[in-house]
Amino acid sequence: MTLEEKVAMCHAQSKFSSPGVPRLGIPEIWMTDGPHGIREEVFWDEWNGAKWTNDSCTAFPALTCLAASFNPEISYLYGKSIGEEARYRNKAVLLGPGVNIYRTPLNGRNFEYMGEDPYLSSRMVVPYVQAVQQNGVAACVKHFALNNQEKDRMAINVEVSDRALYEIYLPAFKAAVLEGKAWSIMGAYNQFRGQHCCHNDLLLNKILKNDWQFDGAVISDWGGVHNTEQSVYNGLDLEMGTSTDGLTTDGTSPYSEYYLANPYLQGLKSGKYKTTELDQKVTRLLRMIFRTTMAANRPFGKFVSPEHSEAARKIAEQGIVLLKNDKQTLPIPVGKYKKIAVIGDNATRSLVIGGGSSSLKVAYEVSPLEGLKAKYGAETITFSKGYSSDLNDKKPESKLIADSLHNAAIETVRNADAVIFVGGLNKNWFQDSEGDDRQSMSLPYNQDKLIDALMSVNKNLTVILCSGNAVEMPWLSQVPALVQAWYLGSEAGNAIASIISGEVNPSGKLPFSFPKKIEDNAAHSFGKLSYPGIEKKQEYLEDILVGYRWFDTKKITPLFPFGYGLSYTSFEYGKIVTDKKVYEQSDAIKVSFTLKNTGKTDGYEIAQVYASQPKASVIRPIKELKAFKKTFLKAGETQTIELEVNVKDLAFYNDKTQSWVVEPGGFVLCNAASSAEIKSKVSITVK
Ligand code: BGC
Repeated sequence: MTLEEKVAMCHAQSKFSSPGVPRLGIPEIWMTDGPHGIREEVFWDEWNGAKWTNDSCTAFPALTCLAASFNPEISYLYGKSIGEEARYRNKAVLLGPGVNIYRTPLNGRNFEYMGEDPYLSSRMVVPYVQAVQQNGVAACVKHFALNNQEKDRMAINVEVSDRALYEIYLPAFKAAVLEGKAWSIMGAYNQFRGQHCCHNDLLLNKILKNDWQFDGAVISDWGGVHNTEQSVYNGLDLEMGTSTDGLTTDGTSPYSEYYLANPYLQGLKSGKYKTTELDQKVTRLLRMIFRTTMAANRPFGKFVSPEHSEAARKIAEQGIVLLKNDKQTLPIPVGKYKKIAVIGDNATRSLVIGGGSSSLKVAYEVSPLEGLKAKYGAETITFSKGYSSDLNDKKPESKLIADSLHNAAIETVRNADAVIFVGGLNKNWFQDSEGDDRQSMSLPYNQDKLIDALMSVNKNLTVILCSGNAVEMPWLSQVPALVQAWYLGSEAGNAIASIISGEVNPSGKLPFSFPKKIEDNAAHSFGKLSYPGIEKKQEYLEDILVGYRWFDTKKITPLFPFGYGLSYTSFEYGKIVTDKKVYEQSDAIKVSFTLKNTGKTDGYEIAQVYASQPKASVIRPIKELKAFKKTFLKAGETQTIELEVNVKDLAFYNDKTQSWVVEPGGFVLCNAASSAEIKSKVSITVK
């Protein structure tokens, strides 16, 4: 290959592709967003849809829902299905999954990620990546790293301790690389310790490529590259999305002006750069091409198949979380009521469009209203919108319209036997959306007021929240039933209806804590320097105490804890026991306990095992998730749950010695139904 051919491979040729080498038959690399559906084709040089008619995809639930399933098998099904769709659309790279940690409920992109816990996200990301790649499609795990907010994302410089970096923010990426064997990774927009993450020596050269021996390609986020020299030396392989100002849709092609285009070529020709780094970049890109487009036995994929609808529905049903259910308000079996009022904008609005790069053009999307009508019969359901929100319109609805929607909804529920309110957030700017953060934790569009008003005329009210984030719930004590229904994709309405009707027993649990108020969240407890940063500088002052690690340690009661979720049945946990009392550092601890379905309905339970080290030489969280298992139990059935925790996984990261350490001494393991509901404890000793 000539110098020109090699350099050409290292940067984009269009919005979503990079050149191959036509002279040698080396194919181009075509990429697609991710992470929960295959993005429509866009024009060569623009973000706008190209109006193809063969690219409307299946929308799978957003990744918060997947994480809430706590089910690695479901994650495999997800990866397999979306990988097949990407393959059918002839993509070599799927730009996902995203595993940035849920640090603040204001982050506009939390819905694209897998929650606040490094262990949960690690266990969920591995099967996703493996299954995508079995289709001959590279997963591109993003955004590496510390892209935990959208506000000021292009510039913010994150400072975080080594300990928090290794214990909280890196494990899911590490698992994706070491266990998932990811073929590509996407650099993040933000800076870390003064260097942009897309050309960050510590993250890309030292940690990713050296320590983890990553053999895939590092792809920049779109417009995340800012410097030729750093891009040459600091581990970037492929520069994407750069334009005159990073993300414009400028008409004139700037591709030859990319940092890794002419400026790199000139530097190579003048002797400023050697070819060593160039050859490494091209080797990695070629390896990715051999693994994908040029792979000999690459399957053919499939697109919008019935199996994908079934998968989307199954994932959704496993991820929906029942948060409150007083007086058996739910389920509502078909035939129980003659008149059900459905209220709320999210009952009918599309929740797959908007939100940024994950926005989808879908083959179909069953709305909650359609799903409920199909389940209960159209004659049973009356609908009133209650409130409205215009997509990407930053201005609220006029008061006149808002009032009439509100009043009409009150009239609709007055004589209903039951009310189902479908609200929450949406994919509008400043909601669950890329590019900026939410501006508060409350529900938008006066929904709090509406819920209060609905309750005052009809107390048989179920609230369904569609969101990828926690919201404040001033009305919670009044409302008898509450369901967290995320963004569920094409099968949203069907999945919601099967849960509400009781045909499917809810089995998801929360992958992140819901604080009562924003100040209770760790990142928000340290002022502006911690969130959102001051003059583009930010310090993660809560350090390792993210999510439930903070609530536990500071004894703050959250609204709903991490790992929490109800079922239509009940479970009884037996006492946790271990196979031994004393362990070597290289041992695996076998824990077991019985789990009984004590109710009348079959269902899944997600049993969790947390570990703690009461006397440590450093601060340790009160407890940390170390194992979980989702088990299906028939009514009345008892099973013995067996799990393993490796002693080495009890380690903390010692930033002085730059190594993981398990201090000899006492540890406590507990089984739990959530991070706030410990069932029993057992003490062990590590030698
Ligand atoms: C997002 C990435 C996405 C890329 C391409 C960027 O703005 O941060 O997650 O894959 O655009 O659409």
